[in-house]
Amino acid sequence: MRLSTLVIAATLVPLAACRPPAPEATTEPAPLTATAPAVRDIHSFAEPHLVKVRHLALELEMDFAARTLTGTATLQLDWQDPAADALLLDTRDLTILRAEAGEANDHWRELPFELAEPDQTLGSRLTIRTGGQPALVRIAYRTSPAASGLQWLTPAMTLGGQQPFMFSQSQQIHARSWVPLQDTPMVRFTYEARLRTPPQVMALMSADNDPAAVRDGDYTFRMPQPIPSYLLAIAAGDLVFAPIDARSGVWAEPALVQQAAAEFVDTGRMIAAAERLYGPYRWDRYDILVLPPSFPYGGMENPRLTFATPTVIVGDRSLVALIAHELAHSWSGNLVTFATANDAWLNEGFTTYVEGRLIEALYGRERADLDRVIERNELRREFTAENLALQPLAIAQEALPDPDDNLTATVYTKGAWFLQFLEQRCGRERFDAFLRDYFEHFAFQSISTAQFRDYARLHLLGQDPARVSEAEFDAWLYQPGVPDTAPQVISSRLAAVDAAREAWQAGTELPEPAVTAAWSTQEWVHFLDGLPQALDPGRLAALDAAYQFSGTPNGEIAQRWYPLTVRSGYTAARPALAEFLGRVGRRKLVMPIYKALAATPDGLAFAREVFAKARPALHPITVGSIEAALAATQAPAAVPATPPESANGG
Ligand code: BES
Ligand code: ZN
Repeated sequence: MRLSTLVIAATLVPLAACRPPAPEATTEPAPLTATAPAVRDIHSFAEPHLVKVRHLALELEMDFAARTLTGTATLQLDWQDPAADALLLDTRDLTILRAEAGEANDHWRELPFELAEPDQTLGSRLTIRTGGQPALVRIAYRTSPAASGLQWLTPAMTLGGQQPFMFSQSQQIHARSWVPLQDTPMVRFTYEARLRTPPQVMALMSADNDPAAVRDGDYTFRMPQPIPSYLLAIAAGDLVFAPIDARSGVWAEPALVQQAAAEFVDTGRMIAAAERLYGPYRWDRYDILVLPPSFPYGGMENPRLTFATPTVIVGDRSLVALIAHELAHSWSGNLVTFATANDAWLNEGFTTYVEGRLIEALYGRERADLDRVIERNELRREFTAENLALQPLAIAQEALPDPDDNLTATVYTKGAWFLQFLEQRCGRERFDAFLRDYFEHFAFQSISTAQFRDYARLHLLGQDPARVSEAEFDAWLYQPGVPDTAPQVISSRLAAVDAAREAWQAGTELPEPAVTAAWSTQEWVHFLDGLPQALDPGRLAALDAAYQFSGTPNGEIAQRWYPLTVRSGYTAARPALAEFLGRVGRRKLVMPIYKALAATPDGLAFAREVFAKARPALHPITVGSIEAALAATQAPAAVPATPPESANGG
């Protein structure tokens, strides 16, 4: 099926037509009456059923020259099992200097410990032999310059060029590379921190940042709400603050901060809209930290301080759904948290649903529907017969060896679509009340898909069983593909884009500047998404001349245009493409380009050259993804007819 017809087709043809064959449940539904089954997180060495960390106190020294954090982590413990006599923690590439138990009168007793051989994905298990059950355990440690959860930038890699920069990305399991802890979302703790940095840099954490803080190289933080480890965050650099309103604002390098504050000016209205729908914002301030373009994701919902890529600052606020998304996590994710990465849809699907509702509340349904159509088309391209195991919302544990691989359209788009289905069947008013109660009921807890299912059966379906049958409900959770019951969306604005594109392909002129002047990022994205896999290079040259795609500062356009130029052999775009890959490190934007390049020997050689240059300024997570893509591809001679769509990739 040609993609250009998909939007229109989607409104007419049930999605079953696109559904992969052989739907087979990959996870057994929990028994109907079950309370929460014991959940185990296979991505952590911790044993929270024996002991839980309740509070973390960090004292760290930041060394930009050595690219290390050195200091202590003091864990306050809540022992669960009287027989337990050891504390198992997650670490990765940490040097453990000492472990001690806190005793009376500030006396510390040294404890024996062992660091196991590292597992490539999970890192090293740290076993501390506590003997008894001390309330406090203090670990002295140092991070590695290669810590997977930290990126260190030299001044030359920043906008201002004067100060160094560093930032963390803890989700999914990278907190363990900068703090020894129980790195599983099943455990929540409050934290405090004291950080010493060079005096000229400003340090921030996912905590009570003070917009008026004085730069002096000695900073203290408190996070009084209990959070899971993946929400621990830290950043430092030449960062200044610009307010948006009384409880929100932007931190960024001086050269970008005003532009960022203007782009995100609607943040306060978004918070207000979210509170009207889902209850109070429970985290005090909501600020946004704009990171260097090497940030490997679009956004990260670090509590009180969303981390964001600068690639969404495009001047027309067309990509502020990213802020709506990260803000929405303040309810879905940070307040009610998935128990394991296998339940990722509870975070990302709910959040994508709420994001859509916020965009609708601020900018209207038509605008929200643009994103929905684009995302659902992406989902259709992503679902293939090869990835059936990753298509149910509740995925089996063995389907996800590396939790960083669960940024699929399944968890985001199918997850949101499921909630849109429930909303449609139950009515918006009832469904809104249900979600509000859900956030309240599970506030500050980590839950599994089975717990959500039990809760929904009782409080949503049970109220009016005729509206959604159990089988319909479970099909979304446990079957691959998208059920026939999925509600469809029509976007007349995108249908007009389809018409313009098809007319051009049929031989008439390109759409007039008078028409395209009114197009937003979403229309351009849809225009590009609907083109064939490859075009005649001359046709691409005509497009490029008309619309200046090469060199675009807009990441959403770049991540679609450059792979198309690669597949089409339009090499004139290569300098601009290389510039983009040299500057931007957001995985979702760069991976499609590297994968397209890696499909031919010549492209692969070019990709290796570009990567070698870009690499020093890239984040370890992005480096890992690119290395895997370039190594996995033994450069087949021909371009596949339909290259497999990648997962969201962040
Ligand atoms: N929490 C995610 C980012 C994430 C997920 C990092 C899993 C590591 C593992 C964040 O909220 C997110 O979804 N970011 C998206 C934003 C987009 C959907 C608006 C991204 O980075 O692309
Ligand atoms: Zn998210």
